[in-house]
Amino acid sequence: MPFTDEVVLITGAGSGIGRAMAQEFTAAGATVAALDMDADAAKQTAESLGGDASAVVADVRRRADVDRAVAEVLERHGRVDVLCNNAGILDDYADALNTSDELWDDIIATNLTGPFRMARAVLPNMIERGSGAIVNTASISAFVAGGGGSAYTASKHGIVGLTKQLAFNFGARGVRVNAICPGATKTAMTAGLDDDEHVQGMIANTPSGRWAEPNEIANLAVFLASDKAMFAHGGVYVMDGGWIVA
Ligand SMILES: NC(=O)c1ccc[n+]([C@@H]2O[C@H](COP(=O)([O-])OP(=O)(O)OC[C@H]3O[C@@H](n4cnc5c(N)ncnc54)[C@H](O)[C@@H]3O)[C@@H](O)[C@H]2O)c1
Repeated sequence: MPFTDEVVLITGAGSGIGRAMAQEFTAAGATVAALDMDADAAKQTAESLGGDASAVVADVRRRADVDRAVAEVLERHGRVDVLCNNAGILDDYADALNTSDELWDDIIATNLTGPFRMARAVLPNMIERGSGAIVNTASISAFVAGGGGSAYTASKHGIVGLTKQLAFNFGARGVRVNAICPGATKTAMTAGLDDDEHVQGMIANTPSGRWAEPNEIANLAVFLASDKAMFAHGGVYVMDGGWIVA
């Protein structure tokens, strides 16, 4: 049980990949703080995990929510060993001409500014103990166009840059920071694409020929946060069924 006595804070834990991360970290012995802006979803995840798992209701777009949420977790659990910056939203593949200022701001606030503020809020606790891991959920959209629209692709390139800079600045103080880049994964975010011929055609053309299950992606985050990945600093890890190579 590699995460015994460790506390893992996961954003977007009410659904999809985040909920799967909550399950896999719990199976590996961790106590999970399941953060989501959807209060019922966060509660459902925490209740399904049992043990000391807790639900944290916060909107990562809001600075006050982020600071309050991290303070709440530290108060309740005493520490944050692992932060999974996973909450994210899609922009419905909007090209630049169809991206309003509001849509752009919303995507960047959720997918990039939120993870930055979450990291800034947990880092003091990790640095104080000389140990911690942050796993940011990026996407194949950190490498290629077409997995989202302008704002989504920019936000996922951005979180990779944030990952590298955090790793560079805090590795020597015991904090490892890495990013995972999932390909098409069966979650609420992609539910509407099940019947999309273009997407199905692209998936059929990949080496795996299928969608990922959320738990397959979650296991990469568990590995990167574990001691087995002690040499992983600032890495960007693709698990996409071969989408990019295809
Ligand atoms: N599903 C895919 O194919 C895929 C592929 C590549 C990357 N990703 C990334 O994986 C991550 C998880 O996506 P998913 O597919 O599991 O989506 P999902 O929609 O199933 O889950 C996302 C969760 O995040 C929560 N959330 C959204 N905005 C939030 C906010 N401002 N504050 C707090 N919580 C918020 C939602 O309530 C939801 O529970 C995202 O960062 C997404 O960009 C997904």
